[in-house]
Amino acid sequence: MDLMNALPTLSASEITTDRLRLRKAHDADIDGLIELQTDPQVRAHLGGPRPRSVVEQYFDANGIAAVAGKPGTYVIADKKTDRFIGTLVLDRRSADLPGHVTKEGGELELTYLLRRGSWGAGLAFEAATAVLQAAAELPDQPVLVVAQTANERSLNLATRLGFQHMGTFEAHDAEQTLAVADLHSFKARSPTS
Ligand SMILES: CC(C)(COP(=O)(O)OP(=O)(O)OC[C@H]1O[C@@H](n2cnc3c(N)ncnc32)[C@H](O)[C@@H]1OP(=O)(O)O)[C@@H](O)C(=O)NCCC(=O)NCCS
Repeated sequence: MDLMNALPTLSASEITTDRLRLRKAHDADIDGLIELQTDPQVRAHLGGPRPRSVVEQYFDANGIAAVAGKPGTYVIADKKTDRFIGTLVLDRRSADLPGHVTKEGGELELTYLLRRGSWGAGLAFEAATAVLQAAAELPDQPVLVVAQTANERSLNLATRLGFQHMGTFEAHDAEQTLAVADLHSFKARSPTS
């Protein structure tokens, strides 16, 4: 068993904000999930787009449960229409990967992906703030954001959220930036809902 995955993450099944509902994935999200994997702009700093046929086969074989069942994994949906906007994940960074601030690794790690049409409206910020506030139920500990240094949108968002850049390292043939924040620093902020 992977010990990192045994460490706790967020337990809430649903979180709402002014504009958003963070919830578990369901079948109607599959088109949006496929788009996130195959859109060249969304994947520009994530290793490039994956072939649609491969992604479709994956969902055919595994169904939505492959996403819905993962701890700390949320679909970001429009609160009024329930339309799929993106995904927000707060899980554990495996000790096998480079980029850590503790000796043992397994820190909480935040990842966000929005459909291209939903960028530039503060939605990722709103979703991430809500998840980090909800996660402050856990003991205080570092939370990581890891992004390619070229991924300005991602790193700007991390900075707006209050993450500090700790340094860089090489992985996947690109320079990566490691940013960190204390989980409980998100406790004091005024709620978004
Ligand atoms: C990283 C990503 C989620 C950031 O999305 P984003 O929409 O830029 O992030 P935010 O939610 O913080 O929104 C900020 C933008 O919304 C604007 N905005 C509009 N209304 C706003 C509001 N009410 N509140 C806050 N910002 C608002 C801001 O001015 C800013 O615009 P700018 O980018 O033109 O300066 C998105 O670019 C993405 O999905 N990228 C591809 C996947 C990826 O690389 N993920 C990172 C993996 S670690």
